Amino acid sequence: MRVLLIGSGGREHALGWALHRSSSVTTLVSAPGNPGLSALGECLPITVDQSEALFEAARSGNFDLVVVGPEVPLVEGLADRLRDAGIPVFGPGSDGAQLEGSKAWAKEFMTRHKIPTAASRTVTSLEEATRELRAPIVVKASGLAAGKGVTVAESLEEAEAALEACFENDRFGDSGHTVVLEEKLTGEEVSLFVITDGKQYACLPSSQDHKRAFDGDEGPNTGGMGAYSPAPCLSAVMLERVEEEIVQPTLNGLSKEGIDYRGLLYVGLMLTPEGPKVIEYNVRFGDPETQAVLPSIEQDWGLLFLSIAKAAFNPSDLKAPSAGASVCIVAATENYPESSDKGLVIEGIEEAEATGALVFHAGTAMKHGELVTAGGRVLNVVGRGATLKEALDVSYTALDRVRFSGMRFRKDIGFRALS
Ligand code: AMP
Ligand code: GLY
Repeated sequence: MRVLLIGSGGREHALGWALHRSSSVTTLVSAPGNPGLSALGECLPITVDQSEALFEAARSGNFDLVVVGPEVPLVEGLADRLRDAGIPVFGPGSDGAQLEGSKAWAKEFMTRHKIPTAASRTVTSLEEATRELRAPIVVKASGLAAGKGVTVAESLEEAEAALEACFENDRFGDSGHTVVLEEKLTGEEVSLFVITDGKQYACLPSSQDHKRAFDGDEGPNTGGMGAYSPAPCLSAVMLERVEEEIVQPTLNGLSKEGIDYRGLLYVGLMLTPEGPKVIEYNVRFGDPETQAVLPSIEQDWGLLFLSIAKAAFNPSDLKAPSAGASVCIVAATENYPESSDKGLVIEGIEEAEATGALVFHAGTAMKHGELVTAGGRVLNVVGRGATLKEALDVSYTALDRVRFSGMRFRKDIGFRALS
């Protein structure tokens, strides 16, 4: 079958890699793709915010399946349009995408369906927000903010600064004109990917992301500096509880509200002393967790995604994950996340791959025939092994072969699971 993959990051390169290996997939086309994806098939020069052009490309290209990587086109209703035109698509419609597109809506949804989450209130002005404000508190821009809309404020000053950024400085535009103020939770965080066709569901192996820039979870939040899978903190017993208390009520809630959700539901969890609670929902695969999770299951992902898109998913078609562990380490530019250095020449990818690791492109470009940096997070190096330690060895050995000026990565990926 012919598959159109939408997106351009490391997550999409991992999705493209998984689709390209699927015997059901004869042609893979990406929009806009990246230099890693261009080795797997044609890349169309259409960015993810060009809804109309994406729709036209999907229609005129006779695709059997469209897989949407990022959230923006889903929130904007691309999946609805494709489905209306009879094109199977992996990804929810704009109604289901509200779970990510509006944190205020997601909180109300969780209240309606008694899904455990942090206590919160939603505010629409600075005055309302600062009334009876106490710290610590978590300040969340309700709308999409490219992963930058959350501040975990330890002090009132920090909380006020975050609120001013939303309401006075317009830092997130409309996305920040509604704010969710939330109780700060404590515990281990874990990402759970649930694939569902609106009727049946299955959970993929758990994973844990490392959001802080520096070792020991220090420094500013980033889009993610690495991930490993599975996350041992989500034991079989805890997973059962999460399915009962969170996953099933969420999927039942969607269905009761008439939302036909087909795609991936990312449940961001905090395992608190009172039990598992939802920190956030995302309506697409996580980045960089996907890069660690997908290689741990030998699967014809093309067929699996198609069955989800056609609401014909049979959970027993999802293969069990291979034994062992998987690690993804992000190679970033020197000053990421403050800034990203573009145009630096990247070398050593083939040598890195020769060690047995996978190298996914996250922020790269071709310039005058050379591969160069094009974003803060440049490459994702993925290793697998019989143990987490072995997987880390594979990843770090491969990472040593890769070079670009100022390249930086965390040296402690997986430290929680190792200790
Ligand atoms: P998000 O951008 O929604 O992924 O949130 C970024 C990070 O903020 C999460 O990964 C958590 O580490 C943290 N966070 C979000 N909500 C809470 C909360 N209620 N309590 C503590 N930390 C939180
Ligand atoms: N890894 C966090 C996210 O994809 O939102």
